Amino acid sequence: MGKRNFVGIAAVLAGIIAGCTPASDSSPPTGGPATGGQTRVEAPTAPKMAALDPEQVRKGQVVFAENCVACHQEGGKGKPGVAPSLTDKEFLTFASDRFLYDTIRDGRTDTQMPPWGESLKEDQINAVIAYLRSHAQQPSRAGEVEGDRTAMGDPRLGKRWFTQICAGCHGPNGEGYAGEGSGTAIGKPGFLNKASDGFIRAIVKNGRSNTPMHGFQGPAAVASLTDQEIDDIISYLRVIE
Ligand code: HEC
Ligand code: HEC
Repeated sequence: MGKRNFVGIAAVLAGIIAGCTPASDSSPPTGGPATGGQTRVEAPTAPKMAALDPEQVRKGQVVFAENCVACHQEGGKGKPGVAPSLTDKEFLTFASDRFLYDTIRDGRTDTQMPPWGESLKEDQINAVIAYLRSHAQQPSRAGEVEGDRTAMGDPRLGKRWFTQICAGCHGPNGEGYAGEGSGTAIGKPGFLNKASDGFIRAIVKNGRSNTPMHGFQGPAAVASLTDQEIDDIISYLRVIE
């Protein structure tokens, strides 16, 4: 019980942190106009796209071309089995700046994604995030997913769903490409230590356009999972070895 409360608080804190940018000193890619007060007040039903500094986007494009394009491909569109898409609309909508920043800084151990914290400066990482964000087609929902509830599923059932539905692409233990999969290493700490339950839930429900990752909820889904089944899978991922 105490643990659950703590996790709940952590999730709320994560939501608050996600609303901030990793480095507020160098024209953050989201969180208001860096270039002056031209923000228009919009109806709450039509959230506006975050303002991006074109100079920073250009700088980020150079960082991307020099360091990332070989794996993540032209425009960050990705290539299953090589490196994932960084520009599909769901990814950009649900991934927080914190998730992007920390993933780029630390890379993902046990995968081909190298850590960039040594070779790129903080402002170069922020610039490359701004470049990725320049592909966004819809406003960020990162704050919403980061504040979403902690999964409370049954890991034993989750293992069953995972093995039946996910393992074919993500590898038998979520080891990703190393398990001959087209999907990323969602069973490894490099992903799990940075991804919130809300983020995982949102991707599983909605999928990622123009990649083999289809959504698993709704009439168009290949296999439609209930909220509980998705929570079962997340709970399994949290204990996967
Ligand atoms: C047909 C293959 C396929 C299946 C089946 C599949 N995935 Fe994926 N999944 C992918 C690919 C491919 C990506 C990365 C998208 C890309 O390559 O750009 C991905 C990405 C993800 C991500 C985001 C990971 C990250 O690195 O940010 C999550 C979470 C995820 N999948 C969960 C699941 C779960 C849970 C299931 C089972 C319910 C599942 N996937 C089934 C192919 C698949
Ligand atoms: C040597 C190939 C390689 C290079 C170079 C590389 N990446 Fe990656 N990247 C990967 C792979 C492979 C993954 C997925 C790892 C996994 O299975 O979880 C990944 C994952 C990511 C993710 C998480 C994406 C997701 O779907 O959750 C981000 C963000 C990312 N890379 C950004 C970058 C940036 C920015 C650069 C350049 C500074 C870069 N990468 C350079 C191979 C690479």
